[in-house]
Amino acid sequence: ALRKAVIAGNWKMNNTRVETKALIEDLIPLAKDAGCDVVVCVPFTNLETAVNLTKGTNIKVGAQNCHFEAKGAFTGEISASMLTEMGVEYVVIGHSERRQYFGETDATVNKRLKAVIDAGMTAILCVGEMLEDRENGITEELVAMQTKIALGGVSKEDLSKVIIAYEPVWAIGTGKTATADQANEVCALIRATVEKLYDKEASDALTIQYGGSMNAGNAAELLSKPDVDGGLIGGASLKAPDFATIINAAS
Ligand code: G3H
Repeated sequence: ALRKAVIAGNWKMNNTRVETKALIEDLIPLAKDAGCDVVVCVPFTNLETAVNLTKGTNIKVGAQNCHFEAKGAFTGEISASMLTEMGVEYVVIGHSERRQYFGETDATVNKRLKAVIDAGMTAILCVGEMLEDRENGITEELVAMQTKIALGGVSKEDLSKVIIAYEPVWAIGTGKTATADQANEVCALIRATVEKLYDKEASDALTIQYGGSMNAGNAAELLSKPDVDGGLIGGASLKAPDFATIINAAS
């Protein structure tokens, strides 16, 4: 990769507060010499614990979602200011699990992304095709469309608060990783799409991660590709030694 990598763990709905404390305490010494940025995206209930434990370390804390409205009658949702107040710096937006199971659309992803940016946090915007899309040969069109809609109304300046994570849905939690070339091809397509929307300066500066069964064994190869600037890691981020190996592969 040509840019400084960002390695983010997406814990999904895993870890109680006690488990959070143990995992982060294990991770801090393993990650302290990282040559990449390190983020852990934890469940809402563990954010405060994670922020307190990582103070003064090189580990940053992220949430896994954020509502687009500032406040109001949205039962079960969390606003951007609730997150910034807690010291959260990153938010995963539009994860395929949110799209598949919780009715997120490209339009709501765009609104949530803008709320995160407006609050001064960095959004980790997830895009990616389903297996069926790949088989139908529409990966490029689909990912370009997801990217364009999500970035609608986002200025070039604000793009510096966006990381894009390319996550082929068929590779998530399946143990089936995209090959390094497949990952790089779509990451490069995303970069070209961003160049068309903004300019080369903006697309050159953009961090694009790969996600989907990235692990201690395959990270180095994926991260060696020029357009893969990091990873969004699910399962392998739940074990400190595995996550540390990925961090080292990116450093
Ligand atoms: O956000 C992370 C991705 O969904 C990847 O998950 O590493 O468990 O396949 P995974």
